[in-house]
Amino acid sequence: MAILLDGRQTASKCRERIRAQVETLVKETGVRPGLAVILVGEDPASQVYVRNKKRACEDVGFVSEEYRLSADVPETELLDLIDTLNEKETIDGILVQLPLPQGFDEKKVIAAIAPRKDVDAFGFENVGRIMTGDFDFVPCTPAGILMLLKEYGVELAGKRAVVIGRSNIVGKPMAMLLLHENATVSICHSHTKDLGAITREAEILVAAVGKAGFVTADMVKDGAVVIDVGMNRTEKGLCGDVNFEAVKEKAAMITPVPGGVGPMTIAMLLQNTLTSAKKRAAARQ
Ligand code: GUN
Repeated sequence: MAILLDGRQTASKCRERIRAQVETLVKETGVRPGLAVILVGEDPASQVYVRNKKRACEDVGFVSEEYRLSADVPETELLDLIDTLNEKETIDGILVQLPLPQGFDEKKVIAAIAPRKDVDAFGFENVGRIMTGDFDFVPCTPAGILMLLKEYGVELAGKRAVVIGRSNIVGKPMAMLLLHENATVSICHSHTKDLGAITREAEILVAAVGKAGFVTADMVKDGAVVIDVGMNRTEKGLCGDVNFEAVKEKAAMITPVPGGVGPMTIAMLLQNTLTSAKKRAAARQ
């Protein structure tokens, strides 16, 4: 039976550290970190994510602002709101919950967020910075995974890492961060031939596919560290991308779903917002 990588416990430790830093920042500079979250439409999963983000902000002493727009607002209204928040002194981070409803140009909307407030690190400037290794904001899910691996003492340098999935939110930045840690990285996707032959080589396997139970035990190397980014709603409840029951007997370490990667993602969002607030405070000195 594999060791469980406990995201709830690790995220709670992170939040503890962030809460202490917020207190010091407020005491020494009067700056309190502020995050604005924008939700367009009524996607039930997005509503849950936004609620969790708001709760996490309040828990560590941030200012939290929530903006809800209906799915049929003109895109210009959303862009105007982003402009206002870009200029708003007390807001350090702006997050537009994705996916946006049909008809919105996601790239254009993300590009409207000022790079210094783009705490998701989805905009062109921050993505470019991640590529070159010169970054302040790290994409939250991949950053959370790295922190979890470090917390459990997983060595990455020289290791064979395989990422399944090539999304801009998870797969691509995950591969880049693993590369910065000196792992040898492969990215697999729906056109990959003989996927199992590649995943069986992985000492670190990250599944970000969006299909319940996609990674089966025969695809996993004995003693691998398996990270499950999946959050699939099925009739059996929330399921990861990994067939947990079978794979946990083969892997050395594995993340549960829920309680693995999810809580870490929110902790990293808080971390990025705190980084942004510290910059605001330093600029005022
Ligand atoms: N939708 C799913 N994950 C994310 C995320 O990390 N950030 C935003 N903005 N939307 C998401």
